[in-house]
Amino acid sequence: MIPLSLAAVAQITGARPDRVTDPAVTVTGPVVVDSRLAGPGALFAALPGERADGHDFAGAALAAGAVAVLASRPVGGPALITADVPAALGRLARAVVDSLPGLTVAGITGSAGKTTAKDLAAQLVENLGPTVAPHGSFNNEIGHPLTVLRVTTQTRYLVGELSARKAGDITRLCEIAPPLLGVVLCVGHAHEGEFGGIAEVARAKGELPAALPAHGVALLNADDPQVRAMAARTAARVVTFGRDREARVRAEDVRVDGRGRPGFTLVTPDGSARTKLRLFGEHNVTNALAAAALAAELGLRVTALAEGLRGAVPRSRWRMEVTRRADGVTVINDAYNANPESVAAAIRTLSVMAAGRRAFAVLGPMNELGSQSRRRHEDAGGQAARAGVAGLIVVGDAAAPIMTGAKAERSWHGELLGVPDARAAVKALGNLLAPGDVVLVKASRSAGLESVALALTGEAAQ
Ligand SMILES: Nc1ncnc2c1ncn2[C@@H]1O[C@H](COP(=O)(O)OP(=O)(O)OP(=O)(O)O)[C@@H](O)[C@H]1O
Ligand SMILES: [Mg+2]
Repeated sequence: MIPLSLAAVAQITGARPDRVTDPAVTVTGPVVVDSRLAGPGALFAALPGERADGHDFAGAALAAGAVAVLASRPVGGPALITADVPAALGRLARAVVDSLPGLTVAGITGSAGKTTAKDLAAQLVENLGPTVAPHGSFNNEIGHPLTVLRVTTQTRYLVGELSARKAGDITRLCEIAPPLLGVVLCVGHAHEGEFGGIAEVARAKGELPAALPAHGVALLNADDPQVRAMAARTAARVVTFGRDREARVRAEDVRVDGRGRPGFTLVTPDGSARTKLRLFGEHNVTNALAAAALAAELGLRVTALAEGLRGAVPRSRWRMEVTRRADGVTVINDAYNANPESVAAAIRTLSVMAAGRRAFAVLGPMNELGSQSRRRHEDAGGQAARAGVAGLIVVGDAAAPIMTGAKAERSWHGELLGVPDARAAVKALGNLLAPGDVVLVKASRSAGLESVALALTGEAAQ
C-alpha cells in the first residue's frame, strides 16, 4: 500500500486513536484481517467473524509487527477505533485510489465466472504494466478494499471482482474504487433467493455499468440479453463481447479438444488470431472473451491477446480443476461453488471429457435459490441423467431433489445413490470407480465437497 501515518489513517477513516503514542508512525502495509499475515508496518483490521472475533488476535498482530489495529473497541495496544471497520477500510481504500491518478480501475461482475475472468484478465493486463488483482474471490465489502489497499505508486491497473448479494452492493463497491471499465459476464440464478427474482439479479449487476463515467467503457456480454440490455443503463461507451456475430470482440470456430479445453479464433477490431485455453469447459470461452475485450481496451493487440490466453493458467483453485490419477481416473474438482448455470456447464464439460468413458457426477446442494430451489435441483438431476452419467451420487438432504430429477428421466439406467455427507460419498466412489472413469465433484461452497475431490486425488483437505 502507499505509506500513510496513523494520523492520516485516523483522519481518512474518522477513527479515534486509542493508545497511539506516536501518530507519525507510518503504515507501510499490508492491511490484513488475518493476524498470521501481519508483519512489520502492517495495519491489522479486527473483524467480528462467524467463528472467531478478530479483536482476540490484535495482540498477536501487534507482536508480529503491526503498527496499529483498526478496531471497534480498545484492544490493549495502539488502535484506531471506529464503529464500522469494513466501512473504514472502504474509506481508506478510496483515499488511496484518489491519490493515484495514474491508476486505471476495472471491475468484473456477473452471476458466474467472475474469478475466472478476473484471473484471465489480470494475466493479460500484466503485459501492459504492474497490475493488482484479488487473490481468489476477494469480492465483497471486505475483500475488495483489502485488494485495493495492495496498490502502490507503481501500480498501473487494478482488476477487481465485484459481487452482489443484494441491491446496492455493487454501487458501494464502485464507490470504494470507481471503475473506468466495467465487465458484466452474465445474469443467472445464483443468489436468486436472496434477490427475490432474476429481474432483481439483473438490476443489481447493472449497477456496475450504471456507475461508469461517460469517458469509461462498459464491456457487456452480447450473448446474454439481460446483460446486453444494460447498454441503456450506462453513460459509458459500450463494447460487446461474446459468440454473437455482432459482438465487437468475439470467438469464431470454437473447437473443444478431447480433454475438454476450448480453442477459438479471437476476432477483434484489430484483427483475428487463433488461441486455445488451458482451462476446461466451453463456458470459459465467454470468460476469455471478457478478459480479452478488457485488455484490448487497455491497448493489448490481438496477437498478444491470443498468446496471453494460450499461456494463462487457472490461478484460483477448485474451479474445473482437472487431475488425472495414475490409474487413469480423471477427477474434475469444481467444488468451489455451484449455481444452476455452472452445474449445467460442468455437466456438459463432463460429458465432453468423458467421450465414451464412464462419467460420474457427485453433486451436492446449491444454496440461496429461494422458492426455485427444488425445481433447479431437479433440473440438475435431469441434466446429469440426460448426459448419460454411469453414476450420480447426491450428497446431503438439501440436494435430494436432484435424485427426483434424475429418476424422472425414464430412459436413464445409471447408478443413483443418495449419501448423507462427503465421507460417505468418498466411500461410495471407492466401490464404483474403475480405471479410465471421469468424476465431476460440485456443490455450493458450504457443502465443502472439495474434500471428496481431494480424497480422490490423494491430496489432504486444507
Ligand atoms: N460462463 C459461465 N457459465 C456457467 N458456469 C460458469 C461460467 N464461468 C464459470 N463458470 C463456473 O462457475 C463456477 C464459479 O466460477 P468462478 O469462481 O469463476 O465464478 P465467480 O463468479 O467468481 O463465483 P463467486 O460468486 O463464487 O465468486 C465454476 O464452477 C465455473 O466453472
Ligand atoms: Mg469469485
